[in-house]
Amino acid sequence: MRLAFVLVLVAVALGYYLHVAPLPFDAEVGSWEVQPNPERLGVLAPNTLLSESSFLGQVQGAETLVLGPDGRLYGGTADGWIVAVDRSTGEVGPTSERPYSSLLKTEHWANVRGRPLGLEFDKNGDLIVAEALKGLLHVNSTSKVITILSHYAEGRNINFADQPTKRIMGRQDVAIAEDGTIYFSDASSIPPTQIGCIYDPLYASLLDVITSKPRGRLLRYTQQGGTELLLDKIHFSNGVTLAHDESYVLVCETPRARILRYWLKGPKDGSGHFWAALVAPRNPLLEAIAPYPAIRSLILKLKLPLLGKPHGHIVELDGQGRVVRSLEGDTQSITAVTEVEGLLYFGHLHAPSITAFQLSSTH
Ligand SMILES: *[C@@H]1O[C@H](CO)[C@@H](O)[C@H](O)[C@H]1NC(C)=O
Repeated sequence: MRLAFVLVLVAVALGYYLHVAPLPFDAEVGSWEVQPNPERLGVLAPNTLLSESSFLGQVQGAETLVLGPDGRLYGGTADGWIVAVDRSTGEVGPTSERPYSSLLKTEHWANVRGRPLGLEFDKNGDLIVAEALKGLLHVNSTSKVITILSHYAEGRNINFADQPTKRIMGRQDVAIAEDGTIYFSDASSIPPTQIGCIYDPLYASLLDVITSKPRGRLLRYTQQGGTELLLDKIHFSNGVTLAHDESYVLVCETPRARILRYWLKGPKDGSGHFWAALVAPRNPLLEAIAPYPAIRSLILKLKLPLLGKPHGHIVELDGQGRVVRSLEGDTQSITAVTEVEGLLYFGHLHAPSITAFQLSSTH
């Protein structure tokens, strides 16, 4: 009898707590309309091709890799470093034959004291970094002096700068135009959380996705004009890339499983070729509760896990948004693709390594 009383009391207290407890960052919860998931037929048929990708080296949490003017690959790590990787020192082959390529030479190039996500080199060979918390940075490649280019746009701080590459890549997987204009995104108004001296974008991005409010923005920076808002109310905008002819810019709306196109100039003929990294398969459980904000709020307060097993999946798209190739496998989830001379280099935001895959015409 006493036990039953205690249990009822605990249940009431828990219910009350879950009802009134605020979500972190006072995140509001919205709902969304789920679009049908394309059938996995034809080019999208499931495969295991990426299981043959190679471990290249230990680099912690490089969301994006970008090719530098010196031929090295650059990535931003979880502890704020920009690391330069000498590609000629690593070997690429089936993982089964060469499980670890320990020869990869890496240099700790600069530390941006935050969480570097998107990267791209400008015409002068200086590095433009989307650092999640401070915004858009310029790193002088000679002196390593860091300047903040943009940290505020249209009445709001940039809380989750996330630029150039990421889930998508085009020309050189970047968003810097010939004239120096930089396209980037502010993925969410929920900033990455700090754990010790490391910033973790994962929890903030999950919170953004599960609460489902369109907090993301597509931004443009020019030296003369400052920061300009191009698109607002995007669901977790991340992964920005320009068309070859700069006629449009693409931005991923990750939780809505779609890519948005913003036309910049010229006739809207939409030519192009891109790789897009699909960070995770669509989650049927999450989509089933899309119309019920109260249930998603409860799941967040109870801290129930909603992440599935990591799965690597990339697709090649033409300028009309059609999938022309699809490669996947049991790898860490892939957050960016950089193609260099027939090799695909993968960034993994939530893994301690970078990997590569030898592309062939039979894929
Ligand atoms: C980068 O630093 C070098 C050396 O201090 C300096 O000469 C150069 O003007 C700087 N570049 C920019 C774009 O500020």
